[in-house]
Amino acid sequence: MNATVEAEHFAVFGHPIAHSLSPRIHARFAAFTGIRLHYTAIDAPAASFATQLEDFAAAGGRGANVTLPLKQDACALSAALSDFARRAGAVNTLTRLPDGRWLGDNTDGPGFVRDLTERHALDLRGRRSLLLGAGGAARATAFALLDAGVGELIIVNRTAERADALADAIGDPEHVYTRYWDDLGAAGNFDLIVNATSAGLGAAQLALPFGLVARRTLCYDLSYGAAAFAFLAWARAAGAGPALDGLGMLVEQAAESFAIWHGSRPDTDAVYNELRAELPLRATD
Ligand code: ATR
Repeated sequence: MNATVEAEHFAVFGHPIAHSLSPRIHARFAAFTGIRLHYTAIDAPAASFATQLEDFAAAGGRGANVTLPLKQDACALSAALSDFARRAGAVNTLTRLPDGRWLGDNTDGPGFVRDLTERHALDLRGRRSLLLGAGGAARATAFALLDAGVGELIIVNRTAERADALADAIGDPEHVYTRYWDDLGAAGNFDLIVNATSAGLGAAQLALPFGLVARRTLCYDLSYGAAAFAFLAWARAAGAGPALDGLGMLVEQAAESFAIWHGSRPDTDAVYNELRAELPLRATD
């Protein structure tokens, strides 16, 4: 007789969440690996996230991804943290421990580096790097870049104090320091420029001098779809080398979470190629 294996429950929490690609990505990974699971999207405003997470656990939820604006809340709700989540101060992956509490992890940073180094075969070591932004996404990116061995890392943020706070938290003043946005014209050019601001979600254009870019410069926007268009258009107009959006990072962070929960890392190329065909890299594609 065939014993029926109950599908385990997973979810992504965020607000808004309707357009999240995570349920689709995890369903595809499950199909590839033959693992049975349910993965749903749960709309959770910050005020009710803790209660909704408890309800999810009570209903048998085994693990969850967490996206905006809940990553810091998820950190606070975790009974234990991975080393990277502790440094980043943000959690995007929750795993139920045997005692019912949550273990918090952060796969955004490792997913970002994996997209660059594995999918795009780029070597980050020694690269003079500019990080735009100092919010939650920038923080995970900064630690991931340093783990990947970049050279100098300069952090610039609209609110300069937040950039200073991030540089202080990293605590490596010889390699990691801040500049004022208005002084970027005197910063020289970079091997790598990462846009970790959420400016692309609104109408505002980032004011960035073309002099930041040389022909070899790799430009990367952590967002994808229309939110990445303005920065990537700027990068191309400035004459950058590769100009990449964060779709690969999205798929890779999902694969890292999948590996934490299920013990095996799925192949990501098929899902990436499928989504890439639907999501153009530029407004005119
Ligand atoms: P996330 O988790 O996506 O990083 P966040 O913590 O709210 O979200 O951070 C958003 C980042 O985008 C911040 O660095 C923010 O700059 P401030 O710290 O000055 O708010 C940056 N940002 C958002 N809109 C921006 C804009 N129009 N121009 C420049 N930076 C912007």
